Amino acid sequence: MKHHFTSLNSLLLTYQDLWRFEPFLQSVDEQLPWISQYPQLCQWLYSLTYEQIDAYKADSESLLTAITRVLPELAAIKKNSQLKKLTLSGLHLERGVESGVPGRKLAQVVSMGEAALQQHEGQEWLEWCSGKGFLGRILASQSQQKVTSFEFQQALCDAGQSEANKQKLPMTFIQGDALAESAKRAMNSRQHAVALHACGDLHVSLIKKASNAQLPAMTISPCCYHLIEGENYQPLSSFGQSSELTLSKAELRIPLQETVTGGERVKRHRFEEMSFRLGLDLLLRQVCGFEHYVPIPSIKKSSLADGFQSFCLWATKKKQIELPEVDFLHFQQLGEQRYWHMERLSLVQQVFRRSLELWLVLDKSLYIEEQGYQVDIVEFCAKEVTPRNILICATKT
Ligand SMILES: C[S@@+](CC[C@H](N)C(=O)[O-])C[C@H]1O[C@@H](n2cnc3c(N)ncnc32)[C@H](O)[C@@H]1O
Repeated sequence: MKHHFTSLNSLLLTYQDLWRFEPFLQSVDEQLPWISQYPQLCQWLYSLTYEQIDAYKADSESLLTAITRVLPELAAIKKNSQLKKLTLSGLHLERGVESGVPGRKLAQVVSMGEAALQQHEGQEWLEWCSGKGFLGRILASQSQQKVTSFEFQQALCDAGQSEANKQKLPMTFIQGDALAESAKRAMNSRQHAVALHACGDLHVSLIKKASNAQLPAMTISPCCYHLIEGENYQPLSSFGQSSELTLSKAELRIPLQETVTGGERVKRHRFEEMSFRLGLDLLLRQVCGFEHYVPIPSIKKSSLADGFQSFCLWATKKKQIELPEVDFLHFQQLGEQRYWHMERLSLVQQVFRRSLELWLVLDKSLYIEEQGYQVDIVEFCAKEVTPRNILICATKT
């Protein structure tokens, strides 16, 4: 892991110009920013049709292969992104255990449940930030061991407890704040801690508290790395702390910017919304003299159907900006052109997403190792089930 972390660290630092930017904001500059440093890369980006851009957005593997053809030094990304895929055979679920669990969530909890059962140490489970305890249900029913499900929202605790009681599962929900010191009270030394998609500080708090309490095992699938209290990422491991890489909240979002998988309608809405926002930004700069981007609040998707002019009138009213006579069609077209320019820029950042995520996961894993655990990082399901498919598996040595 140390070797892997060091390679990723130097890769990310060496090529930081290629991923450290916000495509939305950067796209105001009509030129690609790498024209003198990486002319071949830029030539290739300009040669892409809209269809090719869309296709590469949805297929990071082909994208990396294509970019490596023009920038062979990026081959290191592929080498450093490969993780062991867990061999799972599928669980035979007791009747009713899956009741009320949405389809994709079910696939996630079954895979993660099997992974946790495979590496199980201890005689109980602690389900961190459990929601309604879907994962806990699988663990309770498969192992018949006690599960403590810790969750902030009382309503989710109540719903989870009621379903567990109905199914006669040995589960107890505890309402509490995972970030508070008092959360430690939910822990005991017999528990194997699990966390499926606990966001930012929430999985960090588990890692710190569970290793401090020396729980026998942890199985953690992290997500939402940007949901942290501080402005920048605070590395946990000594390797992370000595790295020169400082990550802002905006940069911590990069690993989560997976391609929209919602089909044509979602894609069309995104195109409309982004091109409207980009077009309005140009309008405000060119007509109203703004020098910086003016953040516009989120909008109901259904309102986009009223068109660009209506969007601009709504947004400027919200921001109390007075608009003079404007050729809206012209700025709508500029917004659409700029959308494709933004998408070209994003393709380059896209190839670094997994490396950045792995850097973060390795920092956490190295910290857990420093606390006396043996740690493995694996993929527990296909990306199509969830792009957040990395699992940190730790057992006390
Ligand atoms: C992304 S959801 C994951 C839920 C569940 N593990 C799953 O995968 O279905 C994150 C959960 O963390 C809970 N949560 C948020 N802040 C929390 C806190 N401070 N303490 C405990 N739980 C919290 C949320 O209410 C939510 O249920």
